[in-house]
Amino acid sequence: MSQTPPPRLAYVSGQLLPEDDAKISIFDSAVMLGNAVTESTRTFAGQPFRLEEHIRRLYRSLKVARINPGMTQANLLETTLEVFEANRPLLKAGDDVWIVHNISAGVSIPGSNPQQSHSATIMIFTAHLDLRGWAKFYREGCHAVTSMSRMIPSQALDARIKNRSRMAYTLADSETRLVDPDAQCVILDIHGFVAENKGGNIFAVRDGELLTPTSENCLEGLSRQTVLELAGKLGFPARETRLLPYDLYTADEVFFTSTPYCIMPATKFNGLPVGDGQVGPMTKSLLQAWSELAGVDIVAQALAQLG
Ligand SMILES: Cc1ncc(COP(=O)(O)O)c(C=O)c1O
Repeated sequence: MSQTPPPRLAYVSGQLLPEDDAKISIFDSAVMLGNAVTESTRTFAGQPFRLEEHIRRLYRSLKVARINPGMTQANLLETTLEVFEANRPLLKAGDDVWIVHNISAGVSIPGSNPQQSHSATIMIFTAHLDLRGWAKFYREGCHAVTSMSRMIPSQALDARIKNRSRMAYTLADSETRLVDPDAQCVILDIHGFVAENKGGNIFAVRDGELLTPTSENCLEGLSRQTVLELAGKLGFPARETRLLPYDLYTADEVFFTSTPYCIMPATKFNGLPVGDGQVGPMTKSLLQAWSELAGVDIVAQALAQLG
């Protein structure tokens, strides 16, 4: 007789609940104001990758967003591992999970003084890491397309605050999908410089050198950081700099970086081939080096999900 697996558990402000029962108020400032910060960490072979660094970045976001989580980084790390361990029995062999943190400024009753302090709402959950949407891009590369919408300037909302106010990114993504349903957006800043993707950072390779925008207009992605570290180990020169669309049109290689897929090659930019239109050697070396670091063949894992 087959047994129904137990429900996944999620944490909401002090309680570990079956995820269907994990709820927040309709007056929560995440809902009322989009006033929430976030982190997404992934596991490799069932081990969280750079979780402490994700939590450090989360606390930087919280500080600048003026949200007091009411718990220390050490407590949050401990609680996060409890949630992860509670759900570990549901992890199937070969699969990995996201570990997601959302922290809002708490309940925001309409009409009340927004300065009044409320306890933060802390949400932690895990979810199956579904890689099917990205899997084919490891081999053939994706189509990178610039959106009409520009980045919110960091002078208004610093791109380093990893926040849940995602309307600008969502619009940029839907605009590029009008051009190609499979397109991945390249969002420019208001001066026309390349900024980032709705959920990833952007790299170009030119004459053997890796180039990526400075964090003046993009999130300080931890995958971006991992690529910069791997580049150092592999002896690839790398530099943070301003990039224009011209630099992507004329690059030898282009790729995105983000927690779930790590490195996603782009072989077309606004309809033109990047380099020779194939996934490039530096992209492949970095993916290989990352797989060795993580102890998981990143490409094989994603392709296996396609069945
Ligand atoms: C806007 C944005 N840029 C970049 C990234 C990549 O960051 P990381 O490599 O830390 O996942 C993300 C991740 O979600 C993001 O939301």
